[in-house]
Amino acid sequence: MRLIPATDDNHLAEIAADLVIRHVAEQSDLVLTTPTGRTPIGLYRRLRSEAAAGRFDLDQATVFMLDEYLDLPGYPTGSFQAFLREHLGSLVFNASTTVHTIEPSQTNTAEICANYDRLLDDAGGIDLAILGVGGNGHVGFNEPGATDDQRTHPILLSEDTLQANFPGVDTSLLPSTAVTIGLADLLAARSVLLIASGPTKAKAIAALCAGARIEASPVTHLLDHPDFTVVAEQALLPAR
Ligand code: GLP
Repeated sequence: MRLIPATDDNHLAEIAADLVIRHVAEQSDLVLTTPTGRTPIGLYRRLRSEAAAGRFDLDQATVFMLDEYLDLPGYPTGSFQAFLREHLGSLVFNASTTVHTIEPSQTNTAEICANYDRLLDDAGGIDLAILGVGGNGHVGFNEPGATDDQRTHPILLSEDTLQANFPGVDTSLLPSTAVTIGLADLLAARSVLLIASGPTKAKAIAALCAGARIEASPVTHLLDHPDFTVVAEQALLPAR
């Protein structure tokens, strides 16, 4: 694991954007995953402004949404696709970039998952898995208990994750299930870039810094990855 400390959210976005831009400069037809959440918002803002300045584009890239809710009562409001459309905008939702979304309205979950795996295979796998991390160590929606052999699969959302993602929202408006790219494809990615900020990530980052795989902390499974970069807020790192 290569650990890069960031002084604050802006610095984190700057470091992560530079890394993404470097990957695209080396390989314009990059296959990448795009996470949701508060953490990547600065990274996406920065990528969009670099694109607006003409220094970068994802025109030849292929983008895979990392995960999506399956039964969000107000879909598409609150969905990950809506989030990505808002924060990535025309950087990826344009006439050139190939974007694979997970559409919860399709007929059945098994079909959605098999179809996504087929698309991942057709794309030749993931080149750059950009990931956030949940407070309980989840990556995408690979929650505690996820195994390294899993490909795209449905999950029951944990209480922790629902509280973190929908603070104060009435339970009647909450989803119960989601679909996520599995650890098998994330571990097989050529490179993994994980970004983490905010006090709720302290436990997950401490586990990474301890350097030992913990079965119940999916993020630590990435410690086995040969090209794993973590950009984390300095305050989350153990004092040296
Ligand atoms: C969601 C997503 C994850 C993301 C996590 C953390 O649960 N499924 O991919 O990493 O939220 O989000 P935040 O950056 O808001 O802490």
